[in-house]
Amino acid sequence: MRTQSVLLLLLVCVLWQDGSASLITAGCQDAAVVKAAEDTLEQINADRQEGYVLSLNRLHDVTQDIKAEGVNHFHLTMDVLETECHVISRRSWKSCAVKGVGSLPVFGACDASVSLQSSIKVENYNCTIQQVAARAIVNTCPDCPTAERLDDPVISETTRLALQKFNKDSASPHVFALLNITAASMQWVVGPSYFVDFTIQETDCKKSTADIELAQCKLKDSESAHKGFCTGSHINADDGLEIKVPVEVKCDIFQPMAARPGSFGSVHVVSPPPEQVSPRSQPTASSCPGERRHRLGLTELDL
Ligand SMILES: *[C@@H]1O[C@H](CO)[C@@H](O)[C@H](O)[C@H]1NC(C)=O
Ligand SMILES: *[C@@H]1O[C@H](CO)[C@@H](O)[C@H](O)[C@H]1NC(C)=O
Repeated sequence: MRTQSVLLLLLVCVLWQDGSASLITAGCQDAAVVKAAEDTLEQINADRQEGYVLSLNRLHDVTQDIKAEGVNHFHLTMDVLETECHVISRRSWKSCAVKGVGSLPVFGACDASVSLQSSIKVENYNCTIQQVAARAIVNTCPDCPTAERLDDPVISETTRLALQKFNKDSASPHVFALLNITAASMQWVVGPSYFVDFTIQETDCKKSTADIELAQCKLKDSESAHKGFCTGSHINADDGLEIKVPVEVKCDIFQPMAARPGSFGSVHVVSPPPEQVSPRSQPTASSCPGERRHRLGLTELDL
């Protein structure tokens, strides 16, 4: 018994001296821990197939969990904000703008277990994200766009018109078909204007063929198909005075990607309030949570 305690004490001393233990005492202010959180979020975004790239707003907590010799295991809790980039762009979160108060902001948290040797490796993760409540936006910005249901007929129609315009104008030899509508909003301009974000995938239909029925086109298989992320709008501005361009669309097209190994985590999207996110536990590490990088400037919600 006694020998065991001495051994344990020795072990703790050895681990303490190898430097990594001091990561924890420095908590969320430590540059190495913050770097670990940044790299962790990069790996989480790279693992995902759907949704928008998540940006690190702040490190909320870090705990250490020492397992195998020479390998340090950490548990990180990070506060995140959605960016304007879709994950299929494969862009680094650092190069993506965070969705502000005028772009239906989404906030949440990610938990990740990571191991640190010469670099960070994410073992598993889970995130929960949620759109900021409409009420919180309206209080701060009465004229900002408001969320629309993704399955609203007017949104389907806006998407259909935007995709039609893209297929007509694009230089691609193939027709693209809709994958998913990822965001939708409405803003009153001269009349109601609708905004959609959607993803598209290349089909086997050549554009040279006249009168293509999009419904007849088969998606190319995922590994050889280009995919795209589009923003489209339908401006209802019939003021009887001038003819305006009612439909706008802009798509970024990305190279086909090889199939990737199975995912090691998940992102859970909670429906917008009134559903509440359960209250968080207080951070356990010293000097946690860290500093926020962004402030959405909402009066009701401290984000
Ligand atoms: C991750 O999963 C655990 C266990 O289900 C849960 O308690 C925790 O709240 C989740 N964290 C996030 C950020 O979703
Ligand atoms: C996107 O579309 C695919 C194929 O239609 C579907 O399997 C997937 O669930 C959709 N994802 C979302 C987030 O709606």
